[in-house]
Amino acid sequence: MSKLALLGGEPVRTKPWPAWPDVREEDVAAVQDAVRSGKWGQQEGEHVAAFEQEFAACHGAEFGVAVNSGTTALQIALEALKVGPGDEVIVPAYTFQGTAASVLLANAVPVFADVEPDTMNIDPELVAGLITDRTRAIMPVHLAGLPAAMDRVLEIAQARELLVIEDAAQAHGAVWRGRKVGALGDAGCFSFQASKNLPCGEGGLIATNDEEVWARASGLRNCGRVDGRPFYEHHLLGYNFRLTEMQGALLRSRLAHLEAETDLRYRNGRWLTEQLQRLPGVTPLDPQPEEGDRRAYHLYPIRLEPAELGQVTREQFMAALAAEGIPCMAGYGRPLYRNPVFEEGNFRPQGCPISCGFYEGAVDYGEISCPVAEDLCERVVWLFHNLLLGSEQDIADVVRAVEKVVTKHQELVAA
Ligand SMILES: Cc1ncc(COP(=O)(O)O)c(C=O)c1O
Repeated sequence: MSKLALLGGEPVRTKPWPAWPDVREEDVAAVQDAVRSGKWGQQEGEHVAAFEQEFAACHGAEFGVAVNSGTTALQIALEALKVGPGDEVIVPAYTFQGTAASVLLANAVPVFADVEPDTMNIDPELVAGLITDRTRAIMPVHLAGLPAAMDRVLEIAQARELLVIEDAAQAHGAVWRGRKVGALGDAGCFSFQASKNLPCGEGGLIATNDEEVWARASGLRNCGRVDGRPFYEHHLLGYNFRLTEMQGALLRSRLAHLEAETDLRYRNGRWLTEQLQRLPGVTPLDPQPEEGDRRAYHLYPIRLEPAELGQVTREQFMAALAAEGIPCMAGYGRPLYRNPVFEEGNFRPQGCPISCGFYEGAVDYGEISCPVAEDLCERVVWLFHNLLLGSEQDIADVVRAVEKVVTKHQELVAA
């Protein structure tokens, strides 16, 4: 380990952090009951259907369609909104693979927009410049639980008659100007993958206020069936993307705690930001909220300012922080378009042009450059949301550890 990672003294933190997921007896009982009922599929039981309504209602949406992942939620939302071959969808460059993969899976074309340096969310001013005659939708991501600049995104979409599909995979319970995310545009998509703020192992959900979108999405994830029609009658080219009743029961049990957990993370997250803002060399990517905002803090991102830290590398900084008992990671190591799947065009069947001949444009992802996303990929450190589920004392440990690492690096430079 490098000299910089050995900071001396006792580690600031040796106690374990709150576990995630935290296994509650009531969750175990809920799953056991679902197993014992013998009704394991959505068609037989009531949990998935009830969860769809409960989750949608708690996000201000009229309808919810549960699916087996956040990626398939995005794919189904696109297909339900009839986005497909030949259409372009504008997505941010700093995000998880599922955001853009879903667009390709729907046979449409992702177009990458750079992000804002202080939020890591899609930069609406750049979105406007990427709109072409083929653009059908904008897919803002509420990254790390921070709502994207939805006022500008919605304004641009309205002016150019574009659809808005929110990728809210990391933003359960986030509030933007008094309204929950997920129902701000035409559809909003969530993930219930194990690390998420509302987990059930794997799962996802499409929220919408549009009954037609709900009906199409519901059919697409259920083998193309239509409610009320015979079981072996298939109307759409659909998928089996259904959730099981055991997952539905687990999600319902955990949903009861989402509001209180989101509030706790929010209080601790804001306090952490107030403390870290005092320190040189580290910039919490957590802008001052507007009236009626509540970030969901799926992650707590910190941007390093190496010039103020003696050019310490991110790896050295993270090793030092981990040695102080603060788990952290570098996050996305490259903008999404820099992954081989995009750079090498590995998403198309051999010899097939993008979108299999429906697309008249030319996309060479190897040519794209989003300098802000590229810079963030080199300088950002993520802390995890379970750290924010502790007490004020726990958050004080995070602050003391970061302060120690920052101070030590500065001393080493001065020496
Ligand atoms: C921003 C974002 N979009 C989409 C997804 C895809 O969700 P899933 O892993 O459930 O397919 C994720 C999951 O990490 C995500 O973080």
